[in-house]
Amino acid sequence: MTAPAAAGALAGLRTYRIETWGCQMNEHDSEKMAGVLTSLGLAPAGTEADADIILLNTCSVREKAAQKVFTRLGQLRRHKERRPHVILGVCGCVAQQEQERIFRRAPFVDLVMGPRRIGSLPELIEESRARRHALGIFDPRDSLVEEAPARRTFSRTRAYVTVMEGCNKTCTFCIVPVTRGREACRSAESILREARECVAQGLTEIQLLGQNVNAWRHRSGEWWDFTRLLGAVALVPGLKRLRFTTSHPLHFKDSIIDMMASREAICRHLHLPVQSGSDGVLAAMRRGYTAADYLGRVDRLRRRVPDVALSTDVIVGFPGETEEDFKMTLGLLRAVEFDSIYSFVYSPRPSTPAAGLADDVHDGAKKERLHRLQALQEEIQMRRNATWVGRRVEVLVDGPARQPEKLAGRTSQNHLVILEGDASLMGRLVDVRITRAGPHSLTGERITP
Ligand code: SAM
Ligand code: F3S
Repeated sequence: MTAPAAAGALAGLRTYRIETWGCQMNEHDSEKMAGVLTSLGLAPAGTEADADIILLNTCSVREKAAQKVFTRLGQLRRHKERRPHVILGVCGCVAQQEQERIFRRAPFVDLVMGPRRIGSLPELIEESRARRHALGIFDPRDSLVEEAPARRTFSRTRAYVTVMEGCNKTCTFCIVPVTRGREACRSAESILREARECVAQGLTEIQLLGQNVNAWRHRSGEWWDFTRLLGAVALVPGLKRLRFTTSHPLHFKDSIIDMMASREAICRHLHLPVQSGSDGVLAAMRRGYTAADYLGRVDRLRRRVPDVALSTDVIVGFPGETEEDFKMTLGLLRAVEFDSIYSFVYSPRPSTPAAGLADDVHDGAKKERLHRLQALQEEIQMRRNATWVGRRVEVLVDGPARQPEKLAGRTSQNHLVILEGDASLMGRLVDVRITRAGPHSLTGERITP
């Protein structure tokens, strides 16, 4: 759609507000929505009260996240009554999952748009003004990848670059294949073009995004795999840091490890979700690897890239998980010593294979396991972080810290570092000596050149 036509259709709408739940993919989708709206001449609203368009970019990976959307809609209902011209949209994974049921439950919502329909946002807004309710859902089998311009707002230093949409795996707990569809990969040319543009715009770090990022492959003249793509992006002139997420252990080939070891720009950090330390639970989750396979990969990675930091995702209370299974997960945490973990209580999701299994670990046991897991991890993190005290690290300063008058940044290993300094350091790579360590962050002093 051309800008003047859109401007006509969107007459009277000047500002937008996007609220984001969930993962980096959602954060980046919100940046793309902002990019589309900006290209039509709209500007970000200063406050909620000023916004002519309010879009909720939702997550449905766990029930609680999906529930929050309806709580938020309840609050926005009164806002919409006071300002009836406001366009209220539900986007993202809850939109794709619930589709027109959202209009039945919240008739004051104007548009419902699934992921991979961001390019249609102008038409959907126009349609909702003409006909009240507009529905933009995609076919999960679709192999198209949208190219939408992003307005990057989540970080002043880091650019997210989507390499693929969707996921072809069938992890039995996961709703992503339902809400984001089958895998569709962007071409190496368009990914590299975007990477070069990001560097030209002054961004220091690129994070390649895909639900199953290391399964990326594309025929660009000849077949490219993820290792080749990673190597090529790492060589983009001027790029200082390259990350990628989320890797699946099954596709985490030795060639990726070799590439990480051989390109300076690739950060010394890997997020590799393990989910459980029990082979029985891993099989019931259909993850396609055993705990020993996982440990073997970690071992090979650490031998080739000794200073690498590792993070992971763990689910406790999956159907059938016994105390013995859970202890194997604790054992795996002790064996690997992750630098950080994201831990979740299992939550049955509609249309997933595990939804048919009895959710037989009761809530009390799930919470207790989560608590024990997190307590162990806190101990491990404290110990690992303490080893950084006295060391010199390079920190990419991203912005102000939560602590007043302090700055926050990340090391190559993705450790959060708090330091003193003025605003001129923001966006810069600085040398820092680590002076203190806590379980969740490090504190350091700048080494002045
Ligand atoms: N490949 C994906 C990624 O990019 O991270 C994983 C999808 S999901 C957004 C992230 C994590 O949420 C998963 O690794 C898993 O630990 C957790 N998760 C997914 N489904 C869940 C469920 N039904 N209950 C609890 N946790 C869940
Ligand atoms: Fe979900 Fe498994 Fe894909 S966790 S995103 S189905 S790799």
